[in-house]
Amino acid sequence: MVRKDEDMSKAEQSNGVHGPGLERILVLELARVTEAAAIAAAHLRGRGNEKAADKAAVDAMRKELGRVEIQGTVVIGEGEMDEAPMLYIGEKVGTGEGPEVDIAVDPLEGTTICAKAMPNALAVLAIAERGGFLHAPDMYMNKIAVGPGYPEGVVDLDATPGDNLQALAKAKGVPINEIMACILDRPRHAELIRAVREVGAGVQLIPDGDIAGVIWTTDPKETGIDIYMGSGGAPEGVLAAAALRCIGGQIQGRLMPMKDEERIRAEKMGITDINRKFKLEDMASADVVFSATGVTDGSLLKGVRIRGDFAETETVVMRSKTGTVRRIKSTVRNVGARFI
Ligand code: FBP
Repeated sequence: MVRKDEDMSKAEQSNGVHGPGLERILVLELARVTEAAAIAAAHLRGRGNEKAADKAAVDAMRKELGRVEIQGTVVIGEGEMDEAPMLYIGEKVGTGEGPEVDIAVDPLEGTTICAKAMPNALAVLAIAERGGFLHAPDMYMNKIAVGPGYPEGVVDLDATPGDNLQALAKAKGVPINEIMACILDRPRHAELIRAVREVGAGVQLIPDGDIAGVIWTTDPKETGIDIYMGSGGAPEGVLAAAALRCIGGQIQGRLMPMKDEERIRAEKMGITDINRKFKLEDMASADVVFSATGVTDGSLLKGVRIRGDFAETETVVMRSKTGTVRRIKSTVRNVGARFI
């Protein structure tokens, strides 16, 4: 039964929980925000300066977020207030009007790849109803992810790589040598890579950017990637979970604190069991909107093209409530130079 607006509580109406709501309108607004961050960072592609590229993206994202009609709180951001001047965890963003939302940002995902003008740098942002994201501290997280269409629990963080790959191959109905895993190219993954190859599966190594690595698993026909494995940033894990909540798929993650300080930080952020295995619904527990714009060319999105006074961008923006995935190609005024 369709309820009329007057039947809804005020909170429901303002959060857009029912009906078209503000959340739907926010889709385009959020695309604008990642577009602005991507254009700003694009001006610094290949300049060898990771910090400058990151700062340009952060400044642009914050400025654009300031125009969006939300009462937003950054829960996954650039760090704590004392270490990040902008988009720090706890920072209030938006106009202060509109729905109360939590925001997860990664204004430049792949700072090094942007600085080296290599593929797959992205500007990424997701919003959720208040309380909808795991407050993941900035530390490593061990992750495993597969795309949609498999039985729940087909792979498990606690199973061996060999068992996971066998199970996935069986569920996909292919021999194991047709399975490709995406893994960050890091010395810490040497043993994992060996174990994957030992059972006959392939490994696609990526230099950086595991949000894209996880998203690739959702379209193996196009990307050739069936599974994401290995450790990367915990904040990136939450953003990847937000994307999968929209497109489908499974992800599990477990924090990997390297020192006591990190354990304490996790506790302060409300994580009582540091060994807990987080599933998708634990990391992104409410409806989300996810937006990513390509900074450099990649298999997910084309990078920014600067053409004189204009910039062309490609953005994917998706909404979990409906599962709608939109690809938006925009030509906007080339305002990137303002942010340098
Ligand atoms: P940055 O954009 O912050 O540099 O992150 C890039 C990235 O590759 C992430 O995608 C990934 O989760 C993390 O770094 C892995 O960390 P590390 O480089 O320490 O292995």
